Amino acid sequence: MRMKYVVANWKMAPATRKDAEKLFAALQRMLRDVPDGARIVLCPPHVWLPFAPPASEKVALGAQDLFWEPRGAHTGEISSSMLASLGVSFVLVGHSERRAMGEDNAIVQKKLKAVLDAGMTAILCVGERDRASDHWHDFLGEQIESAFSVVERGATGRLIVAYEPVWAIGGSTPDTPDDALTVALLVRKIARKVWGESAGENLPVLYGGSVEAASVGPFATQEGIDGVLVGHASLDTDAFSKIAGIISGDAA
Ligand code: PGA
Repeated sequence: MRMKYVVANWKMAPATRKDAEKLFAALQRMLRDVPDGARIVLCPPHVWLPFAPPASEKVALGAQDLFWEPRGAHTGEISSSMLASLGVSFVLVGHSERRAMGEDNAIVQKKLKAVLDAGMTAILCVGERDRASDHWHDFLGEQIESAFSVVERGATGRLIVAYEPVWAIGGSTPDTPDDALTVALLVRKIARKVWGESAGENLPVLYGGSVEAASVGPFATQEGIDGVLVGHASLDTDAFSKIAGIISGDAA
């Protein structure tokens, strides 16, 4: 059976250390009751990483970003080894909110390589800004092909793709599971072309964008979608543990 993933992207929240500690503690309590059917990855802001409970088989620690250079004079940046030394094993790369701040495909390539070279797992985010033109598949194809071109076949076991249509992020209307599946198939088609049949087939593809407990069911049962990346609902412990339960097969 394929591994399922439930990734929490806390973005720039919560605002204080006290609230972050509370959130970690509440999640630790609630996620205990979630069945073991999925890998849960918590991605808090960098500064709250040291306050996370120790990572376990079930709940791993992720970061939202990193800098591509392993060392050097780079004021304000965070390296892969800093993250690894805090127990981080997953890193988001190319989230659309970072791309909107100027992260282009070339920067995404460098960050992706940095994560994989450090032995961690990269969660590569891709997604079109809108579907106004018929070319949104081409736009996505470019994002995906550019990123995949820097990944060696041997590292594909540590690559996850999260399809997050930008227009669906931060609202309450996710994409349809059918359209998300069409993109997951496109991702795997490109992956097969780049690394061959089995690496392509085994590549996990998640969906993200307005995932909530009420809407996640059809994504959980959609074969070909290997889990979800959750933004605002991941800050609500009830909602997030429900989502994790549904993806784990508890109530799907
Ligand atoms: P959302 O965010 O669940 O709040 O739409 C998802 C994301 O940006 O990763």
